[in-house]
Amino acid sequence: MAYLDGIRRVTDLELTGRRVLIRVDFNVPLDKAGAITDDERIRAAIPTIQHALDQGARVILASHLGRPKGKPDPRYSLEPCGARLAELMNVEVHLPDDCVGDAARKVIQDLRPGQLCLLENLRFHPEEEANEEGFVKLLADLCDSYVSDAFGTLHRAHASTAGLPRVKTERAMGFLVASEVASLARVVDSPERPFVAVLGGAKVADKIDVIEALLGKCSALCIGGAMANTLLAAQGHALGQSRVERDWLARGRTLLEQAHDRGVEILLPTDVVTAPSLEAAEGEVRSVSHVPEDQLALDIGPATVIAFAEKLAKARTVFWNGPMGLFENAAFARGTLGVAEAVASCPGFTVVGGGDSAAAVRQAGPELAARIDHVSTGGGAALELIEGKRLPGVEALRVQEVS
Ligand code: 3PG
Repeated sequence: MAYLDGIRRVTDLELTGRRVLIRVDFNVPLDKAGAITDDERIRAAIPTIQHALDQGARVILASHLGRPKGKPDPRYSLEPCGARLAELMNVEVHLPDDCVGDAARKVIQDLRPGQLCLLENLRFHPEEEANEEGFVKLLADLCDSYVSDAFGTLHRAHASTAGLPRVKTERAMGFLVASEVASLARVVDSPERPFVAVLGGAKVADKIDVIEALLGKCSALCIGGAMANTLLAAQGHALGQSRVERDWLARGRTLLEQAHDRGVEILLPTDVVTAPSLEAAEGEVRSVSHVPEDQLALDIGPATVIAFAEKLAKARTVFWNGPMGLFENAAFARGTLGVAEAVASCPGFTVVGGGDSAAAVRQAGPELAARIDHVSTGGGAALELIEGKRLPGVEALRVQEVS
């Protein structure tokens, strides 16, 4: 497979007794009190971590959390992630209070084979995001080998994702990266047809590159969420107080024409659930032609869910990214959960991009999630792969010569 050509797997490396730095993506959502609300990214990294521990590696985990703007900030400490990992794996997780320097060096020195530590947030240093050479060297001095398992961060050209692998001859991808890239590459490179994509989320502006890429590949595109409002408005629908990107109306019209010219069917909502505010406890189902002046469209309606589901039932390949409405409010979650069920019921190869749609799948429960072939842990990284972009964190693993 082209995407993974020339990249070794963690099972190809000799790990016993080595100091193995595994870049993981523990950038998990936290509530206002700092508690983890979804630990899927931590769980997803466990197979690689367990493999390294079983091989007798001295494991150094490195991650970012949030966007602390290049300086230490206790709100973004990885301590809660370390605690959750310790619970999930039933191991002791040593936590130096910095990712480089004496604190990290001392903890790593004391690690015995089969033990692990989790470095403090890489983004407490501005040099991480700048991919600064001196910082890469500090990280490189801490380890003998490098394993990339931070799928959600592979689209960032940072020190720990793109700089460090280039200076380590002993480098490989972990199990999560291998399975994520293989599943997404199958959608991009060789989708069995009909290939149906479902896109949702707030803005056409955020998804324009992925829409354009998908127009060249899929048979039908179902669009929901607030971004559908912009396309409905481009068709001339008045949508009351609904969120519409006025400056994208012309581009929206062009997109619809492009799809038509390429023979790609675009399915937009025919009905929506409306309410006077985002906090409303219930909404009303209305045709997209009859949204009252004082109301907002906050979910796709039941007729739209059926139309999307009928399309998905016949698909051989499905890619879904983005919620169909304001699913964090239960009154407007039915459309998103209906699409989750339709994707799960599709007999073809089904992939859900990360972020909110993956959260919705988990909200729908483990039985539904188990019927989907691949639920990505990466939001931006998954979309960039679908757009056909090369990811810096993948390319750095492939490079053969050490600079
Ligand atoms: C993500 O959540 O998409 C990754 O962890 C990358 O985070 P970032 O968008 O802050 O770089």
